Amino acid sequence: MIVVFDSLTGQSKRFASKLGYEIISVDDYYDEDEEIFLVTRTFNFGQIPVPTVEFLNDYHDRVIGTAVSGNRNWGTNYGKAGDKIRDLYKIPLVLKFEGSGFDRDVEIVKKWIEENKKGVWYDGKEKCNTRMGIIK
Ligand SMILES: Cc1cc2nc3c(=O)[nH]c(=O)nc-3n(C[C@H](O)[C@H](O)[C@H](O)COP(=O)(O)O)c2cc1C
Repeated sequence: MIVVFDSLTGQSKRFASKLGYEIISVDDYYDEDEEIFLVTRTFNFGQIPVPTVEFLNDYHDRVIGTAVSGNRNWGTNYGKAGDKIRDLYKIPLVLKFEGSGFDRDVEIVKKWIEENKKGVWYDGKEKCNTRMGIIK
């Protein structure tokens, strides 16, 4: 398992570094046959950032889940890249977080990854989305 991040101003990278796995930028990721957890951000009125799109176009089938940084000031576009990634690539959206995330956010994602590795959530993308609903 490796955590791949896309970060312009450093918040998503900081969150990624708190998860306890090796981390690498989308720009530096090289082809390895391993599971990926993606930490990305929302940009420009709810868009998925271009480096993330390019990364997902190549590697989406290895990405087990995403956590997406955003800012609630963006209203309905808050963290919307996560919704779009879920809908376009069928990748579970585990959590939206603000800035580099609170400790609670980090714990939620760490726990999800651990449970996913044990198979608890592995075949239940709906379950993940339900979980997201509960967290909200
Ligand atoms: C130009 C610009 C557009 C943004 N658009 C959104 C948005 O549509 N939705 C949102 O939730 N956050 C938006 N944000 C906030 C960023 O997603 C947030 O600051 C995030 O933590 C940045 O992550 P990074 O530091 O890893 O680049 C925007 C920020 C900037 C600078």
